[in-house]
Amino acid sequence: MKKILTSLALIGLVAAGGAAFAAEEAHNAAAPTHFPMEEPKEMGWSFTGPFGTYDKAQLQRGLKVYKEVCSACHSMNLVAFRTLTDLGYSEAQVKSFAASYTIHDGPNDAGEMFDRPGKPSDYFPAPFANVEAAAAANGGAAPPDMSLLAKARGVERGFPQFVFDIFTQYDAGGPDYIHSLLTGFDQTPPTGMVIPEGTHYNPHFMSGVSLKMAKPLSDGAVTYDDGSPQTVDQYARDVSAFLMWAAEPHMEARKKTGVNVLFFLLIFGGLVYLVKRKVWEGVAH
Ligand code: HEC
Repeated sequence: MKKILTSLALIGLVAAGGAAFAAEEAHNAAAPTHFPMEEPKEMGWSFTGPFGTYDKAQLQRGLKVYKEVCSACHSMNLVAFRTLTDLGYSEAQVKSFAASYTIHDGPNDAGEMFDRPGKPSDYFPAPFANVEAAAAANGGAAPPDMSLLAKARGVERGFPQFVFDIFTQYDAGGPDYIHSLLTGFDQTPPTGMVIPEGTHYNPHFMSGVSLKMAKPLSDGAVTYDDGSPQTVDQYARDVSAFLMWAAEPHMEARKKTGVNVLFFLLIFGGLVYLVKRKVWEGVAH
C-alpha cells in the first residue's frame, strides 16, 4: 500500500513538473531567455569529417554572393586576393579580379593618399572607413568582419550531439548557423513577442530575438553561370561554405595530415609490436 502511495505521489510530482515546464515554455515563446530559439539545421557539407574537402565550384559561387551582396556591409580584412587561387582560379583570373577593386593606398612621395586598382597581394577592402562609420550606417550595430565569422559563430550543440561530434569530427557548426540565419528571416514572431524598432526577427539569431541586419538575400539576386539554382537557400549554402574556406583555407591539408599521422601510427604500432615479440622471443615466461 505504502509503495502504491509513493508511486502515485511520484507520478503526481512528474505531472506537476511537466505542467510547470509546459507553462514555462508557453511563457518563453513571448519572452525567450535562451538563444537561438531554433537550433541551426545540419546541412551535410562536403568539408565535414576527417576526409572532408571543399567543393571549388561552390566556393566560387559563394565568392560571387559575398562580392555582390555581403561585401556592401561586411569587411573581410584578413583574406588576400592571391589566396583565391585555392578556389580554382588561375593567377591571371585572380589578377583581373583584384584589379576590379579600388584600393586606398599611400602616402605617396608628396605625402598624399591615393586610389589605385587592386593587386593580388592586396586584401579585400572594407566597405566602411572604420567601425564607427559601419555602425552609424547600420542602425548602431557594425556588421562583423567576415574573415573568421564561420569559426566564431558555432552554436553549442548540447548533449548528446557533442558526444557524437567527437567521433564523427563534426566541425560545421559555423556554416550551419550562417545558413540557418540567412534562410531564417520571413517568419512571424510568436504572439506577444516584442521586436525592437529597426530590428528584424530571426529565430536562428544566437544573441536575441532579432538583429539589425535585414534579410540580405532574395531569389534571383545573384546570377550563377553554372546552372545552380538561384534561390536564397542555395546562395546561403554557397556563401556559408565560402566563409568556412575564408576562415580556414588550409583545412584540407590539416585533415589530410591527421589521417596520414593516424595511418603512420597504426603501421608503426604494428612494427613496434613485432620488434617486441622478436626481442623477448628467447626469454622464458
Ligand atoms: C545592409 C548591410 C548588410 C548586408 C548587405 C549584409 N549584412 Fe550581415 N550584418 C549586418 C549587420 C548590421 C549585422 C549586425 C547585426 C546585429 O548584431 O544586430 C550583420 C550580422 C551578420 C552576421 C552575424 C550574426 C551574429 O550571430 O552576430 C552574419 C553571419 C551575417 N551578417 C551574414 C551576412 C551574409 C552572409 C551576408 C551576405 C549574403 C550579409 N550578412 C549581408 C549588415 C549586413
